[in-house]
Amino acid sequence: MSQQCNLKINLSGRGHDYTEEEIAAVVEAMKIADPLTQGKYQSDFERRFAQYNESKNCFAVSNCTAALELSAILCRLKPGDEVILPAHTFCATAIPFARTGAKLVWADIDLDTRVITAKTISPLITNRTKAIVVVHLYGLMAPMPEIMELAGRHSLMVVEDCAQAPGSNINGVKAGNFGDFACFSFHTHKNMSTLGEGGMLVVKDDALAKLVPGLRHNGLRVFDYPRERYWVPAMSNVDFDIDNFWPYNFCIGEIQCAVGIKLLDRLDAMNEDRNKRARKVISALVDYPELVFQKVPDGYYHGYHLLSAMYDGAAYGRTSHDFIEMMAFKHGVKVIVQYHPLYRYPMFIKAGFGQANCPNSDRFFDNMVSFPFHHWLMEEEVDYMIGCTRDTLNSLRGR
Ligand SMILES: Cc1ncc(COP(=O)(O)O)c(C=O)c1O
Repeated sequence: MSQQCNLKINLSGRGHDYTEEEIAAVVEAMKIADPLTQGKYQSDFERRFAQYNESKNCFAVSNCTAALELSAILCRLKPGDEVILPAHTFCATAIPFARTGAKLVWADIDLDTRVITAKTISPLITNRTKAIVVVHLYGLMAPMPEIMELAGRHSLMVVEDCAQAPGSNINGVKAGNFGDFACFSFHTHKNMSTLGEGGMLVVKDDALAKLVPGLRHNGLRVFDYPRERYWVPAMSNVDFDIDNFWPYNFCIGEIQCAVGIKLLDRLDAMNEDRNKRARKVISALVDYPELVFQKVPDGYYHGYHLLSAMYDGAAYGRTSHDFIEMMAFKHGVKVIVQYHPLYRYPMFIKAGFGQANCPNSDRFFDNMVSFPFHHWLMEEEVDYMIGCTRDTLNSLRGR
């Protein structure tokens, strides 16, 4: 559509701002970090993340996609294996697992919570299934206790994609403490960003965790025998961690780690701001049952990376397109549709993963609306957005 749209509330490319203290930490690291990668800031960031998340074996990496790639490698998947995962997610959830040659099997979401559950996963398990990838979508965790119980019964590996859910929890147990692997993103849009890119991999098994540093950094390691002269035979050794498996460079820089350390002091407060704001919006719209937000089960803490809803205007002969159009062109609020279910994208169709039996994912996608929800939205903007949403919903009802 070539209509003019004068945006008052745009979708921001940055999830949050930085404090003076965080900026000072970056400047200090710029001055003193030596080296600028793989140094003290990285180990401090990993230690601090482990403490924050109450997890062991935390490895900072260049982004969450790298963490997912390492998880896929460590699941030791091969052609013929099957991996069960949701389709309504960012494509990076799936690509590393597709690269192994395994078959992607799409699990449907629960229509109320919009995450996969033991009930939607269970019928898909075959004797070829090796792993389940769970996504804590928009900041709401999937029901991990029941998924882990199911995985345990079938001896399946579980990967938690926590890209959108750092600090979210179930009865106080934070995302990333259930599965065999957990992958976090510090990308620019996320609840905390290490200056645009960044990620963290959490590995439950100590033996598998030992393989990560080499896989992350070109197979580099110290010589494992005593040396009299530090330069003989060379500075460091290079070897395989997994036989015949070529390693990567998935390292993150020290400056990013410096800001990550600081942001962890503020993550819970930022999540709480998001949570309160989401509850404010949702309760202000409670008279409009045609706008259905994610259902948050008792005991679940939702970090509200995004505020998305399903608009069901069938009773008024209206669609989510009508809602988005009016929000954008009448009110200047840029509501969007997040991602296609992956089985609808050309990449996955061409790779043979275009088939799915996911009626809830289809229904959600075909009716979804996602509001601007960056942390630095002003309170007046939130109030304006609520007012516009009410006005739009009234207009669509024909009032
Ligand atoms: C659910 C999900 N998984 C994975 C990723 C990939 O994260 P990154 O950009 O840090 O590689 C993202 C977002 O970017 C995401 O939203």
